[in-house]
Amino acid sequence: MQTVEHIFEKNQTPKPLVLAINAVLEASKEIAFLLQKGAMSGILGSAEQENVQGETQKKLDVISNDLLKDILKACPVVAGIASEEEDLPVPANKDGEFLVIFDPLDGSSNIDINVTVGTIFSILPSNGNDASQESTYLQSGREQLAAGYVLYGPSTLLVMTTGQGVDVFTLDPETQEFVLTESQSTITPTTQEFAINMSNQRFWAESIQNYVGDLLQGEEGKLGKRYNMRWVAAMVAEVHRIINRGGIFMYPWDSREPAKPGKLRLMYEGNPMSMLVEQAGGLSSNGKIAIMDVVPEHIHQRVPVILGSKQEVETALKY
Ligand code: AHG
Ligand code: MN
Ligand code: MN
Repeated sequence: MQTVEHIFEKNQTPKPLVLAINAVLEASKEIAFLLQKGAMSGILGSAEQENVQGETQKKLDVISNDLLKDILKACPVVAGIASEEEDLPVPANKDGEFLVIFDPLDGSSNIDINVTVGTIFSILPSNGNDASQESTYLQSGREQLAAGYVLYGPSTLLVMTTGQGVDVFTLDPETQEFVLTESQSTITPTTQEFAINMSNQRFWAESIQNYVGDLLQGEEGKLGKRYNMRWVAAMVAEVHRIINRGGIFMYPWDSREPAKPGKLRLMYEGNPMSMLVEQAGGLSSNGKIAIMDVVPEHIHQRVPVILGSKQEVETALKY
């Protein structure tokens, strides 16, 4: 049996980076515990306040954000944090080397119905810059030192990369350790499964309308094969399915709110998921370039997302 600590040793992950990742994992175990207690821990329902993105926060969005923030601020290697649920970056320790960027609770609409949610994290170098300044955080996804998610489902899983492939760990409820359960995951290059929120169809650009139209045509259309569809409404769950059995996931640009090109956020969702997908041999694009090549202008910036099985994403991009 190999724990996440053994894998850090095997990969010679630098000690300070291990400390930063472990701080995220410590918080995630507490979130997993609260989720298991469910209604008994008073975490369900709305917090009746909005975040900086104008979304109504769930109680657990706020609780998990505070848990991560408190633990990370107390971790000496962390220079600062940026979170989907914080208006501004939060500086932590002057001598810290890392910026920890996170979506504390992904898939919030699933909390109250007892369906999969997750925590997504991304670690960037602080390069000695001022962690109270937004500009310090505006690095492309290629600068990430580590990225991953913790998925709270029937089991609690950690899926992580430090740039040496993607490993999957399962939280042992008895020992509270993340145990390696799949080493070096890879994404199948072809697929017959897609994920997109079809209710937004009329707001999409023509190219994506055409591509999804052809997916729906199945073996009778020009793609020549029948496709199945899934939508869990939690990116963590969609990416996890793709890492397991391939697929294509899209949250494309749409015209609902012109100021927000797509729903998903570049730094909290797009970049960490893209690093995992690329490390597992898949592709991740905003429709024009690799998401990790996008140079961020704001920490809360949105990005259109098309990711998954390499050949299928290439097919989509031809449209
Ligand atoms: P969050 O809960 O962090 O706001 O993210 C939810 C995101 C993503 O996880 C998911 O793919 C998508 O929103 C679901 O969107 P719809 O509500 O349009 O289905
Ligand atoms: Mn999210
Ligand atoms: Mn969230």
